[in-house]
Amino acid sequence: MRAFDPMQKSETVMDRGERVETARPEEKPIGTTRRAEQPLGTACQGATHDVLTSQRAEKWRGFFIALEGTDGSGKTTVLDGVKARFAAAGLDVLYTREPGGPPISEQIRALLLDPDNEAMAPMTEALLYAASRAQHVQEVLRPALAAGHIVLSDRYVLSSIAYQGAGRGLGMGTVAAINSYAIGGLLPDLTLFLDVDPREVLRRKARRVAADRLEQAGDAFFENVYNGYQQVLEKTPGAVRIDATRPAEEVIQDAWETIEESLKAWRSETA
Ligand code: TYD
Repeated sequence: MRAFDPMQKSETVMDRGERVETARPEEKPIGTTRRAEQPLGTACQGATHDVLTSQRAEKWRGFFIALEGTDGSGKTTVLDGVKARFAAAGLDVLYTREPGGPPISEQIRALLLDPDNEAMAPMTEALLYAASRAQHVQEVLRPALAAGHIVLSDRYVLSSIAYQGAGRGLGMGTVAAINSYAIGGLLPDLTLFLDVDPREVLRRKARRVAADRLEQAGDAFFENVYNGYQQVLEKTPGAVRIDATRPAEEVIQDAWETIEESLKAWRSETA
């Protein structure tokens, strides 16, 4: 089943297992190049930067936002708040997520997060995340951006670099290399990172029970993930840190203002 068809007036994308209908925005003329060439991962020693940016620059008309953060950073709450702001502003947005999105990627998600798959090797995990992403790029992201949509993905490639590269210890350069095949040069226009110190995340985590395989990983793992994010964000243009230790409403407002500002720049480029 195709989850997204750029020829349709509206399309359905899997969002947290629910089907979401979105109307297509007005056709926009192809404006300036939405660059895919970003020096992502120059902080990650060696090849990270080159491998992710070695693909040709792509032209697309849409605007691609990725929302990133460690587990327990309040990403779901912020996402809900941002969705409400987009709706109030009358803007159509295609919401999607990783791992997941189209049905094949959702099947890979189930494998990845199944607590019974304790024996999964880190490299298997990294390749499955990349496989899920490749399908997501091919079936949802690329067609949506080509059609001029605003797309917001709950996680994207920085998650793999932080979780598998730094958290699982595969090396950020290695994971970037794997993912360069998966994304083929398609990088976000704006990456929002919800920044919460790992010690605060631990305090938040103590209040709830781990639900999936990744959430069951130890505290040192999450500290490494956080540090991995910090390193890769340093050298990621289009990445904005949002202090997510503040009350939810403030974090949402900050995220929204950052999005609005970037959208304004995008509109003036594509006008
Ligand atoms: P999910 O329930 O969607 O958690 P969250 O709300 O934190 O996004 O589970 C996704 C898990 O997968 C989360 O622990 C982060 C992890 N993950 C990776 O390890 N690598 C990746 O590339 C992605 C996209 C997610």
